[in-house]
Amino acid sequence: MSPVDGAGASNPNLPVDRSVTEGRTPSTDPQGIPELQEVDCPPELRERIEMLMARYPEKNSASIPALWAVQERYGWCTPEGIRQAAAVMRVTPAYLESVASFYDLLHTTRVGEHRIEVCTNISCWMRGGDELLDAFRAAAAGEDVFVTGFECLGACDIAPMAAIDQRYFGPLLPGEARTAVDQLLSGDAVLPDKSLEKRPLAGDTQVAGASGGAGDGSAE
Ligand code: FES
Repeated sequence: MSPVDGAGASNPNLPVDRSVTEGRTPSTDPQGIPELQEVDCPPELRERIEMLMARYPEKNSASIPALWAVQERYGWCTPEGIRQAAAVMRVTPAYLESVASFYDLLHTTRVGEHRIEVCTNISCWMRGGDELLDAFRAAAAGEDVFVTGFECLGACDIAPMAAIDQRYFGPLLPGEARTAVDQLLSGDAVLPDKSLEKRPLAGDTQVAGASGGAGDGSAE
């Protein structure tokens, strides 16, 4: 007997909806599953979500990447975008909304064209993460840039660091926040020297800046 069965059996006044514990859409869900022809889902978004669903034995497992695809297309998880994903996945919009509202990296309201997450967890905090967050907030004030503190982003080796439009930068100084925001708004490359993408990987034998290597733009 499951705990849910037990609770329902011991107190018949408590309704037990097994779908809640089994991951199915609750039977009391007030919204139905929208039909594809009702939601005008862009073909690229539909194809991407279908590709994501094909990766998992359970279609619901594709909910987070599907919502991420919606957010990438519309800038946030718009109600219409969620309805489109729900129609493709054959789940209710309420189910996807419940998933989107649970995760900090998914936004169910518009937060800004650009997003900056400044890590304030232990390694970054010890190296000035709070000051860095304050600097980014001041630099982005009044701009269409969402700045928030965040828990460990898994790049403690470049502490203090921030994710700027999903790309990692560090170690950062508070004085670089203004430059980063200005570059972001003007469309320039953001702090190229602080980009994680530009750092050599463990085991790289090529020294950054050495001539003659792949990607070296020098011409004789
Ligand atoms: S503590 Fe900041 S990335 Fe881990």
